[in-house]
Amino acid sequence: MCGIVGYIGAKNAQEFVIDGLEKLEYRGYDSAGIAVNTGNEKFEIVKKVGKLQNLADELKKNPLSGTVAIGHTRWATHGKPSDENSHPHFNKDKTLVVVHNGIIENYLELKKDLVAKGYEFKSETDTEVVAHLLDELYTGDLLETVKKLSKVIKGAYALGVMSVNEPDRIIAARKESPLIVGLGDGENFIASDIPAILKYTRDVYLIENNEIVEIKKDSVKIMDVEGNEIKRDITHIEWDLEAASKGGYEYFMEKEIFEQPEVLVKTLNSRVDENYNINFDDAGLTKEYLSGINDIYIVACGTAYHAGLAGKHIIEKKTRIRVDVDIASEFRYRNPVIDDKALVIVLSQSGETLDTLEAMKEAKRHGARVVAISNVVGSSIAREADHVIYTWAGPEIAVASTKAYTTQMVILNLMAIDFAYKFGKITKDETVEDIKKLYDVKQSVQKMLEYDEKIKDVADKIKHSESMFYLGRGLDYVIAVEGALKSKEISYIHSEAFASGELKHGTIALITDGVPVVVNVTQSDLFEKSVSNIKEVTSRGAYVIAIAKEGNTVVEEVADEVFYIPNVEDDYAGFPTIVIHQLLAYYLSKLKGNDVDKPRNLAKSVTVE
Ligand code: F6R
Repeated sequence: MCGIVGYIGAKNAQEFVIDGLEKLEYRGYDSAGIAVNTGNEKFEIVKKVGKLQNLADELKKNPLSGTVAIGHTRWATHGKPSDENSHPHFNKDKTLVVVHNGIIENYLELKKDLVAKGYEFKSETDTEVVAHLLDELYTGDLLETVKKLSKVIKGAYALGVMSVNEPDRIIAARKESPLIVGLGDGENFIASDIPAILKYTRDVYLIENNEIVEIKKDSVKIMDVEGNEIKRDITHIEWDLEAASKGGYEYFMEKEIFEQPEVLVKTLNSRVDENYNINFDDAGLTKEYLSGINDIYIVACGTAYHAGLAGKHIIEKKTRIRVDVDIASEFRYRNPVIDDKALVIVLSQSGETLDTLEAMKEAKRHGARVVAISNVVGSSIAREADHVIYTWAGPEIAVASTKAYTTQMVILNLMAIDFAYKFGKITKDETVEDIKKLYDVKQSVQKMLEYDEKIKDVADKIKHSESMFYLGRGLDYVIAVEGALKSKEISYIHSEAFASGELKHGTIALITDGVPVVVNVTQSDLFEKSVSNIKEVTSRGAYVIAIAKEGNTVVEEVADEVFYIPNVEDDYAGFPTIVIHQLLAYYLSKLKGNDVDKPRNLAKSVTVE
């Protein structure tokens, strides 16, 4: 949560900072702020509660001129969204400033100490202690001061700090929270994520934990906390800004839904060769290794957890190995029964989710091998895992995850096929057949995008509902769970998913006249039972939106609206089905006038517990 940026060069720093923050707004949008060294005795600092636009408007009226600046976009943790709690924070005479992403865990203790020494706090944040600590420790050399600071503060941080008396450098430091340095020509940048600097450079240094960086306009020096220089290779970013911008769509979410046919194939191609061989050997998933495992655990949060639920279904079905799926924040504290015979697969789009990162460390402590499936190259989770498999979804900017989910499902499906082959459950020919069918999800997903207008009409009919329910059996159920999350997080309609067979054990009491119920009926062997469940809710007045396979027109007799997915293999029906759910949630949100890409109270990467 929260995004930081910094610029040092010869141009107007304010422009770079605002532009960079705009690309990072997905990390939090409760408030934003900037500090510019304008050549005066103290920093000029402007902070505005609300979206970045408020800050941009203010700076348009009263521009700040200077060639070195840091900025911040906030997702509130300690202290409500307000001008005072916004970053940058500063010392009493505004000569030292800091922006911070993360949480200073020992801030209360530090604050008590600083207050006793006479420091006055203006905000409720943990970050303000850093500003006053910098003041206390400052020796006239900001780098030395940050080295000392890093030994005092505990917790997670990506910091950008400046001293008004040292206008030729920004000092940055990282522990747990992401930080990159962009390398320009006569100018350099710091940022929490790559899109912030992509307009200006594609060459970056990925900063590691416990590193401090000195950024000048013509040089960048990476050091450990003792000041020993560290040599780092430059990472060249292949994707361009177009991939991280809306490209003609009204919202990122819409664009990302529509990108799915393409990125699903891209992700498949990353692991399947022209002879339909699946390659996971670089991830350590060799036949030899797999023959020695007893269990598989999938650990993740939110939408990634839901992809894990679908993964369990498919891996167990194809391999007959037991798969446990855990919510990362639960897994890490429940002393899981795992050992070195367990394969732990962690899923994380951002690769920065703290709960998942910590769960992964817990699994490693138990001796398990950890394979991460992540969408962000070089992310913390990707780096800390024993092995990493990337989803090639491209940057996912909308807070509501769509293409990351379906590309995670692609990898999990490939694992199911690959493991089944390695365990001798299927032949090579069956493997090839299965992979070809998996490639066909491109067409089935593409076809669903044509339902765009019809989905919008249905959304219009139900947009004023207070509650919605999502039902399904088997794979249909786990897809319904993700559908319900999409709806609740962006439409703000209370949406819950239930296993259709479980409804009669309590939830059916909530079905009254006109309540929308979205029912997935795509699984062949459960079809009749699912149709009966539809009847149970229609007879209680529900407005049923069903998703069924082409040809199953009997559903029209019991449902109010039907969306047909192509006649795909049951195992792959989740791909087209979720697209209907994603578009329904999208239109519910849009028609209600919500900010689709930036739903209230949320942030794209959740780097707090
Ligand atoms: C919902 C959503 C979240 C994330 C969750 C995990 O649309 O995006 O539930 O899936 O916060 O995030 P990652 O995958 O980045 O670990």
